[in-house]
Amino acid sequence: MASPRFLLLFTTLSLTVSSAISGSVVEDLANLQPPSDFNTTIMKNCQHNPSLRYCNSSSMDLKEIFKFTIVASHLCNESKNPNCVHSFDHIDLRNRPKMAPLYLSYSFFWKYCPLTVLSIDLSNISLKGSFPKEVICCDQIQALDLSLNGLTGEFPIESFAPLTNLTFLNLSYNYFSESKISDSQFFKRFNDSSFIHSGILPSDRNYTIKAILLLVGFPISVILMAVCFGWLCFQRPDYLPRMFQRKHKFTPSMLRAATNGFSRKNQMVRSEGVEIYKGTLRDSTQVRIEIYRGCISREKRKEFVEECKVLVELCHKNLVQVLGWCRTRNQRAIVTEWTDGETIEMWLSGSAPPWKQRLKILIGVVDGMRYLQENWPEVVYDLRINSVLLADNHEPILSRFQVGDQYSNNKKIHKFGIFLLEIITNRRSQEFERGEAGLIEHVRDNYPENLHKVIDARMKLPENMFDQAKHGIELGLMCTDQSISKHPSLNQISHMINKVYESCLELAPQNHKRSHGDGVVGKDSSNGESRL
Ligand SMILES: *[C@@H]1O[C@H](CO)[C@@H](O)[C@H](O)[C@H]1NC(C)=O
Ligand SMILES: *[C@@H]1O[C@H](CO)[C@@H](O)[C@H](O)[C@H]1NC(C)=O
Ligand SMILES: *[C@@H]1O[C@H](CO)[C@@H](O)[C@H](O)[C@H]1NC(C)=O
Ligand SMILES: *[C@@H]1O[C@H](CO)[C@@H](O)[C@H](O)[C@H]1NC(C)=O
Ligand SMILES: *[C@@H]1O[C@H](CO)[C@@H](O)[C@H](O)[C@H]1NC(C)=O
Ligand SMILES: *[C@@H]1O[C@H](CO)[C@@H](O)[C@H](O)[C@H]1NC(C)=O
Ligand SMILES: *[C@@H]1O[C@H](CO)[C@@H](O)[C@H](O)[C@H]1NC(C)=O
Repeated sequence: MASPRFLLLFTTLSLTVSSAISGSVVEDLANLQPPSDFNTTIMKNCQHNPSLRYCNSSSMDLKEIFKFTIVASHLCNESKNPNCVHSFDHIDLRNRPKMAPLYLSYSFFWKYCPLTVLSIDLSNISLKGSFPKEVICCDQIQALDLSLNGLTGEFPIESFAPLTNLTFLNLSYNYFSESKISDSQFFKRFNDSSFIHSGILPSDRNYTIKAILLLVGFPISVILMAVCFGWLCFQRPDYLPRMFQRKHKFTPSMLRAATNGFSRKNQMVRSEGVEIYKGTLRDSTQVRIEIYRGCISREKRKEFVEECKVLVELCHKNLVQVLGWCRTRNQRAIVTEWTDGETIEMWLSGSAPPWKQRLKILIGVVDGMRYLQENWPEVVYDLRINSVLLADNHEPILSRFQVGDQYSNNKKIHKFGIFLLEIITNRRSQEFERGEAGLIEHVRDNYPENLHKVIDARMKLPENMFDQAKHGIELGLMCTDQSISKHPSLNQISHMINKVYESCLELAPQNHKRSHGDGVVGKDSSNGESRL
């Protein structure tokens, strides 16, 4: 189409080339000057064919345009275009690693890249370094081959946007840094064979490695995870999400971790067959861990679990909360909440608690007992002043439960009677030669006339409250009386103690007021002395 203009252009060139040159293009360029009428030649060219790129450049550099025409002519011949006098449609430097860098370095040529050029082949020319961006100036091209080179660095995706007519691209066998070229809409029209081992797309080898890794790695990781999960299940379920944890079930590893490896520092009690530890669970709950060592039969182990399943259900403010259990071939453990308080025994002998507080303790104990009787009659407990704990809120807490051999109701009431007497008298049945019977005998001998010898003098009871304590003693004797067949029921006991407590509350402010006055305090203290 542009043949007449090009004819003109290339005729000039041909003349120049044939007359002046022998040797390399570089030498030619260094020595050549545009002919004097070159000015008018290109003016004419532009008039006839404004699509020539140099016509539109802001400042027409004649020398540059002249050099361009020479390089174009040489490149045309080099690329074996059929008629370099007319126009040329491809640049082919394939397999010419010596020539190629030189042509690529003529930036003025690429700047004025002839619009007739439709394909550029720069494959296998040992190009190094970054992408030759100057080539992109020929934005009308339809084919670009840069395969089999050593190009590195980022691939300039954005520079390709103007190349709207590009239909063939080959970037294979280069070392571009991996980029997300496949994400770009523009490059969707090229398939993977344009990017083989280009670095841009993950290469086949990478695919293979990844596939192998996936094929081998996936099952392995699944197995590892399963093993891990299994290990956690059996050893440290407390590390699993809550949904996978078996409630109330503790493992030896968990107990070991909670007690710093059953350290001496955590050990509270150690006696024949049982060790008691203070421990901290992973969720920082403080717990009391009772461990019973020694082999037991399968049957017994089963029973133990059944028992624990009952105990963890217990839920009352006056019962220690059983959190769970642990069972192995040669040890059993029960985990309960940790109560920081002292035992009732320590409390009694230490702080000489007033009558009102002792009543409160008795109410709590009876509440706990009633709860068990009504809901869990099979659970028995150790009701002694050295086994009942006192929580921070001054509630008594029954602990040391057992399931099975049911105490008779009478035995429970009897135990409570002893507990009651010990609370009021601050005496222990162990102090007496005949134990509990001795304590009962001691109280009975002094009932009713000499009760001041029996009732804990440190309470400094005023007269009206002393009567209440007397009723308490009566109740205690009733509960422990072996000769009568019908003992008061827990409900009756509860009723009585609550009534006493209520009247005590009524008296308390009065008592409080009086204790500030001189008379009663004196009387009280003298009473106390006389009782001693
Ligand atoms: C071209 O040459 C003419 C004289 O032949 C001169 O007047 C004109 O300025 C020149 N133009 C350029 C662009 O150099
Ligand atoms: C050069 O500019 C003219 C108008 O100024 C325009 O018609 C022509 O297409 C442009 N040619 C090129 C190659 O950009
Ligand atoms: C064009 O190339 C051929 C060889 O392919 C060479 O013989 C000839 O001299 C070249 N012509 C010019 C003008 O460079
Ligand atoms: C690449 O060029 C070299 C010469 O530089 C040649 O030996 C080789 O066959 C060429 N490879 C391809 C695939 O064209
Ligand atoms: C793409 O080709 C069309 C038709 O051949 C042409 O009109 C258009 O200018 C070309 N685009 C570029 C960027 O050269
Ligand atoms: C990829 O595209 C080229 C032409 O661009 C075509 O020859 C080749 O068959 C295509 N390959 C695949 C796998 O589609
Ligand atoms: C790109 O070049 C490589 C190496 O020569 C070749 O294997 C591949 O098929 C080419 N891709 C296309 C799309 O022609």
